[in-house]
Amino acid sequence: MSIDVVTIDGPAGAGKSATSRALAERLGLEFLNTGAMYRAVALRALRDGIELTDESALAEVARNVTLESQSGRTIMDGEDVTDAVRAPEISRIVRYPANAPSVRAILVEQQRRIGLARPLVTEGRDQGTAVFPDARCKIYLDASPEERARRRLGELRARGEETPLELILNQILERDRLDSEREVGPLCVPQDALRINSDGKSIEQVVDEMERAARSRLAIFALRSQNQ
Ligand code: DC
Repeated sequence: MSIDVVTIDGPAGAGKSATSRALAERLGLEFLNTGAMYRAVALRALRDGIELTDESALAEVARNVTLESQSGRTIMDGEDVTDAVRAPEISRIVRYPANAPSVRAILVEQQRRIGLARPLVTEGRDQGTAVFPDARCKIYLDASPEERARRRLGELRARGEETPLELILNQILERDRLDSEREVGPLCVPQDALRINSDGKSIEQVVDEMERAARSRLAIFALRSQNQ
């Protein structure tokens, strides 16, 4: 049975967050940012002085932390941590919970519960593959490593930071490798996904493409179930 979920997967820097959030708004659906869940576990662990290489301690953190998504904001133990989880120090350590199979099992279970409770646009690396293989609409948003590096350079410059493009590109390639080679929930293209490449496109143009895909997939399924 298909479920009313639109999944958006793809590599870091392809533009998933901004476009998925806008898509959810256009479709009037709830938005779930699953990267923020892994980031929140990293933040809780950091604040509580947990040893990041201790997988069972990280799993304990994931089990005990309360994570909620309210209008696309990330709430951890009652506190809005949407901005705190984007801090560079969290980006540096989030690979520990993201690579821990027991943490993934706990967060995947929570994501499924959220998706089964209400229609959703959900964004991550494994949403259309491991988490919601029965989602009605799956999108894989991609962009070339060079384009993603240029975008990152622009973001850093806007914050007054100067980093060589070459270094950013190498970091992106390394992150892609880690995301794709992970044994549990690796980044890969879901078989039945629509692939969109965001190179040279504005957020608006990408959201238009996503919206067309989502509306036609959701409509096809609505028609099929009416005729059954
Ligand atoms: O999309 P992001 O940068 O906020 O993701 C943070 C980290 O979590 C990144 O290392 C990828 C990982 N992640 C994951 O493993 N699975 C997901 N569903 C979402 C994010």
